[in-house]
Amino acid sequence: MKNKENSIIDIFENGEWYHSMIYKNVKSNGTFDYTKIIDQLNFPEMNNKTVLDVGCSDGFFSKYFLEELKADSVTGVDVNRYDGSVSFQVLNSFKDKYSDKYNNHDDYKRLENSYSMLGLENSNKYNLVKEIFDLNMKFEYGSIYELDGFDMHDITFCGSLLEHLRDPITALEQLYFKTKEFCIIDISNSFKSRIPFMDKPLLRFTGAGGNFYHYSDQAIELMLQTIGFSKVQRLKRYKVLIEKYNYKIQHTIFLGTK
Ligand SMILES: C[S@@+](CC[C@H](N)C(=O)[O-])C[C@H]1O[C@@H](n2cnc3c(N)ncnc32)[C@H](O)[C@@H]1O
Repeated sequence: MKNKENSIIDIFENGEWYHSMIYKNVKSNGTFDYTKIIDQLNFPEMNNKTVLDVGCSDGFFSKYFLEELKADSVTGVDVNRYDGSVSFQVLNSFKDKYSDKYNNHDDYKRLENSYSMLGLENSNKYNLVKEIFDLNMKFEYGSIYELDGFDMHDITFCGSLLEHLRDPITALEQLYFKTKEFCIIDISNSFKSRIPFMDKPLLRFTGAGGNFYHYSDQAIELMLQTIGFSKVQRLKRYKVLIEKYNYKIQHTIFLGTK
């Protein structure tokens, strides 16, 4: 009979992971490996602060905020129900395509024995990470469009989600309402205007059914300012490798002060 240690290692070695994460000497095979670059992203100290991590996925960033930036506690919010259903608001015409993809992402059926051994009822990695690293983080099901039921937090964070939303303005405004001190937004596939002397705020429609817009840095800054953040800074432009495609994707991290 498997013990808990073997179950954890089984899920790290054979599970579907969004981020590469390290348990003892085993690294999970994530779509993104931030382990070597995370310290270079200029995240601010979070000493004794509460954090709301919206679109938290497997909790890679929540864990980093707690362990390395010394946050007091993190509430992770995500619309993923961990039942194999699509956890993005995709267009109807793309539903079948995304349904197959998401079904394949759910590793619960394959690794049920290991999850059960750890007392977990589904493949929610956020709960797994909380348990095995004994961290002050809590998963709540919820959407960025409806954060009314959540308390205000010192810091709000939303990483790589805005690109997937039909309505980024409502989403950012919801984060604003829940922010006491500052809000950190990480945008994937961000771009800089290539037109000299015309740093325009631009949105580019991607033509995909679940990944709607690419944003220029100026667009995000203008949205954050217009919503009410008093000061908006660019913390970092960086590239991260998509392991499966061996392609580096551009990101920009912004910090909006309330
Ligand atoms: C691309 S992943 C990003 C994960 C992580 N935040 C990061 O920075 O790498 C986006 C996450 O947002 C979740 N998500 C999608 N739509 C959402 C919504 N409306 N509200 C909250 N979470 C959502 C997805 O289930 C997924 O876990």
